[in-house]
Amino acid sequence: MKLEPMRWWHIDQVHELEQQLFPVDAWSKEQFWSELAQPTRRYVVAIEGGSVLGYYGLFALAPQSDVQTIAVSPEAQGRGLGAQLLNSLIEEALAQGCEQVMLEVRSDNAAALALYARFEFEALNVRADYYAHGVDAVVMRQKPLKMVVAS
Ligand SMILES: CC(C)(COP(=O)(O)OP(=O)(O)OC[C@H]1O[C@@H](n2cnc3c(N)ncnc32)[C@H](O)[C@@H]1OP(=O)(O)O)[C@@H](O)C(=O)NCCC(=O)NCCS
Repeated sequence: MKLEPMRWWHIDQVHELEQQLFPVDAWSKEQFWSELAQPTRRYVVAIEGGSVLGYYGLFALAPQSDVQTIAVSPEAQGRGLGAQLLNSLIEEALAQGCEQVMLEVRSDNAAALALYARFEFEALNVRADYYAHGVDAVVMRQKPLKMVVAS
């Protein structure tokens, strides 16, 4: 398994995963194309044997950065890949001179909340009814930026 920059030829596979993992509000292929075209974005895929197992997107404009997305295929979840991707994202944000990273997460997303807790993200506020079906968004921040040793 290796991490490498996301390119246009990964988009079909990424989009399939996106639809599985975010059934209510999946990004379109056009959105990924648009994201890849923007100089403030860094997208990375985790690849094994030609298959995309996970991906993340970072918005970085120092000193600010945001997790645009982070996802791991259902088959590969629970084995530390999410943490590996988040470490890579933080490393990239540091390389860009960023001092903090922000994100929004569904309040009912236990796996993601567990991941962010391990990385000591703090909840800043809650945006009520932010997602479809009245689900709240928790706005979180990691400051200062810090990678976490795999458990
Ligand atoms: C969130 C996500 C990226 C985590 O990926 P992963 O590869 O499973 O992550 P890891 O194996 O590194 O585990 C991260 C933590 O989540 C916990 N976890 C995994 N599945 C869980 C579940 N269903 N419920 C509660 N905690 C869970 C793990 O125990 C681990 O916690 P720990 O660090 O305290 O041990 C993955 O679940 C995913 O892609 N989900 C769908 C997309 C998504 O919601 N992305 C985040 C949007 S904000």
